[in-house]
Amino acid sequence: KQIHYFTDVHSTNNEAKRIAMADAPEGTIVVAEAQNRGRGRMSRGWFSPFAKGIWFSVILRPPFSPAEAPKCTLMAAVAVSSAIQQVTGVACGIKWPNDILYQGKKIVGILTEMSAEIDVINYIVIGIGINVNIGQEEFPAEISGLSTSLAIEAGRKISRLDLLTAILQQLESLYTGVLANGFASVLGEWRSHSITLGQNVEVLGGTGNFTGIAVDIDNDGALLIQTGSGVEKVLAGDVSIRP
Ligand code: BTN
Repeated sequence: KQIHYFTDVHSTNNEAKRIAMADAPEGTIVVAEAQNRGRGRMSRGWFSPFAKGIWFSVILRPPFSPAEAPKCTLMAAVAVSSAIQQVTGVACGIKWPNDILYQGKKIVGILTEMSAEIDVINYIVIGIGINVNIGQEEFPAEISGLSTSLAIEAGRKISRLDLLTAILQQLESLYTGVLANGFASVLGEWRSHSITLGQNVEVLGGTGNFTGIAVDIDNDGALLIQTGSGVEKVLAGDVSIRP
């Protein structure tokens, strides 16, 4: 497998897309010490200071239809939260679809980008950003109240190499299982790591805002929300958990 290592890039997702278009094989990793234009979901930026986190992207070429791509993101969230628990002891939760939080504060963000034809995926880039050894005072003011790091929560410096190794092992074993047996086992693990299920949530975007109780995810990875007028299925969007 190829690992492309950079000290400094705009965004590991951009590099990964570039080499995926140049036929990089499935499983290729792009990792950087720092990103100076790290990207988040919803056109937001992603704070990616030098040597303080794990900023990386994985190229997959799953034999799925484009509609099944969100499952890869759920799989990545399960792999990362299991590896974090194993290496650091910090028990994070997954907020649908793919934020990893500790006590309501963000530790990990995942940005999945895809190139597809009507019925086949050319490639999927799963970009993962993990706040590993960032001190609370180092976060920019506008995200400081919403963000934390593994070092803050574990109370010690965390080895980025140990954590990245564990994540790649988890990802490989989950993905191998998915290719052989389908997504059911990932969905089960996703449910057990979820902090969204059972909560009162507000959905922003798509067809307008609404609230309800998040009751489950279905086999496509969509969030099912019980509202006053029935069950709504949400495939994409921003979901906030209400107190
Ligand atoms: C989010 O929560 O909004 C998603 C953040 C994703 C950040 C990662 S860091 C590695 C990869 N490269 C990027 O530019 N973004 C993703």
